[in-house]
Amino acid sequence: MNTKAQAPIGLFDSGIGGLTVANAILQQLPNEALIYFGDTAHLPYGDKSADTIRYFTKTIGSFLLSKECKIIVIACNTASSVAFDLLENLAGDKAIVFNVIDAVVDEIIRKKYKKVGVIGTLGTINSNAYLNRINSKDKSVEVHQLATPLLAPMIESGFVDGQISNVIIEEYLSAPELQDIETLILACTHYPLIKKEIEDYYLAKNKKVDVLATNEIVATQIKHFMIENGLINYEKKGKSAFYVSDYTESFEKTTQLFYKESVDLIHLPLFK
Ligand code: DGL
Repeated sequence: MNTKAQAPIGLFDSGIGGLTVANAILQQLPNEALIYFGDTAHLPYGDKSADTIRYFTKTIGSFLLSKECKIIVIACNTASSVAFDLLENLAGDKAIVFNVIDAVVDEIIRKKYKKVGVIGTLGTINSNAYLNRINSKDKSVEVHQLATPLLAPMIESGFVDGQISNVIIEEYLSAPELQDIETLILACTHYPLIKKEIEDYYLAKNKKVDVLATNEIVATQIKHFMIENGLINYEKKGKSAFYVSDYTESFEKTTQLFYKESVDLIHLPLFK
């Protein structure tokens, strides 16, 4: 028996948005046991300073390492933007760390897009993480970024496919920054929930813009890596656990928006 393959995959996010990544991983790797940590006590990360997010990442990363995760996924674009190197150093050879940015950047280069739009939190956009990584691989790609801070709270409040969400989506997507693009990166783990609405917006405007959700792309990258490195759990289905740093019933309800299976949230006040 390959004991490393039996180890869990750890994931974390500022809250429950990262469950879109957990979902995508389980769709492709149904036997894996997940250990998910949602830092609901500190949500949202999108408007926090980089130093503060690095501090949270260090604490959560140490927790996931203590659970002997074979892989740790930073299932949050904001934390991926500012704390990936830190977590990679902390993990050393104990776990492989993935962020939700690099796989998407590779996809942009592979598909030879030349005009790319990026929407995400203030933290993700201000860090220029997508811009810098895309341009470090191909300087000729134009990257047009727009912070869209209303979208994550809107989605978390359940507004995903009605008048309110349509007005907000339209307001953002009609911004001058995003006019001349071939593809739009949804650089926030909440946004897969409004991918269809965004695609519908472009359809209605007769514009051809490919909409890229980071969760599916990173799940595919992780699956390939696990196949190549003998890390897939082929034994019986592992048991997943979902921890949050602050528990409320409304968090538990909101998980249903993001995750297909029912989830029992375990309160773990990691920062006390
Ligand atoms: N999960 C965060 C991200 O992907 C969005 C929510 C937040 O601001 O904490 O950037």
